[in-house]
Amino acid sequence: MNAPTGNRRVGALLILGIETSCDETAAAVVARDADGRGRILADVVHSQLTDHAPYGGVVPEIAARAHVEILDRLIERAMREAGVGFTDLSGVAATAGPGLIGGVIVGLMTAKAIADVHRLPLVAVNHLEGHALTPRLTDAVAFPYLLLLVSGGHTQFVAVEGLGRYRRIGTTIDDALGEAFDKTAKLLGLPYPGGPHVERLARDGDPRRFDLPRPLMRRDNLDFSFSGLKTALRLEAEALQPLDDATVADLCAAFQAAVADVIRFKARLALKRFRELTGVARPTLVTAGGVAANKAVAAALAEAAADIGAHVVVPPGRLCTDNGAMIAWAGAERLAAGLVDGLDAQARARWPLDADAAPKLGSGQLGAKA
Ligand code: KG4
Ligand code: ZN
Repeated sequence: MNAPTGNRRVGALLILGIETSCDETAAAVVARDADGRGRILADVVHSQLTDHAPYGGVVPEIAARAHVEILDRLIERAMREAGVGFTDLSGVAATAGPGLIGGVIVGLMTAKAIADVHRLPLVAVNHLEGHALTPRLTDAVAFPYLLLLVSGGHTQFVAVEGLGRYRRIGTTIDDALGEAFDKTAKLLGLPYPGGPHVERLARDGDPRRFDLPRPLMRRDNLDFSFSGLKTALRLEAEALQPLDDATVADLCAAFQAAVADVIRFKARLALKRFRELTGVARPTLVTAGGVAANKAVAAALAEAAADIGAHVVVPPGRLCTDNGAMIAWAGAERLAAGLVDGLDAQARARWPLDADAAPKLGSGQLGAKA
């Protein structure tokens, strides 16, 4: 697998990308010009949100079935919108993990079938690498840069040193940040996914009414922990049952303020660490994941970056959440470097981006996306 075929000069590439690792079914066609610039020709995402909403979270069996039902049509649509046929493609890329294994298999098998029938190279992409390389597609960001990935399944700082060279320098030891937002929302009676609701209600709340903890705010620690914060909020909420609207807003505001404090502190620390690792005086910090849409989180990151003299790049929201373009782009970057996979490529529920990073105990949604 992944045998490099050496550094070659490559011409323009046209890649179909397929993403099915969680609750979004997505297909995209992306071009990589000979100068390394990316262009999105089509990018189609079908969210399964309404399928899962009644259950308060993603149900793996429902997700896998929904991917099977819609993926073929979605690929057809992406190809039609891009105005290309399979014979025009240079390769096909699909998420091969980490993620909900049923869904990953659906996308990877479909990609293998297309690759086999049309004699195209297959690229089995790590979903996290898709997120990590997105700022190179959207903003042509040069290596190295620091990535903060904050989604429903992941919360990590990754030093992106080059293609295939990722160093995780901080991660959550329990819940992912999006998961903490979702659990907080659930216990306050708000719908799934909870992050946007918590943000909306926090606007009218008083963040000082409740004194919530800021877990792991220590100078020697780049990891996150959010389960204690969530528990502290639960205890406050239980003591005040039944909750009136003002109390819910105050709890949302207090939670979000605690999160923003932690993010600001950790981002400063991570940028300093990244500077030590790379020697880059004015580093670039890029964000990915649904939680990056949160204005309080974005403001905290901007403040941390200003303190350090760093530059922040926030790709457009729809490319921060799960999509096919990021998988097509990661496929294009790998193909340009001569990295392709055989039709025996395996779907993987777990696949750390940084194989050297020590596993953390007690991770939140381990089976799903960690
Ligand atoms: O990246 P994403 O769309 O899906 C994956 O988890 O891969 O992220 C979804 C997560 C959910 O937990 C959702 O509640 C959270 O991102 N989220 C937010 C906001 N928008 C989405 N969290 C806080 N504030 C937001 N505005
Ligand atoms: Zn993702």
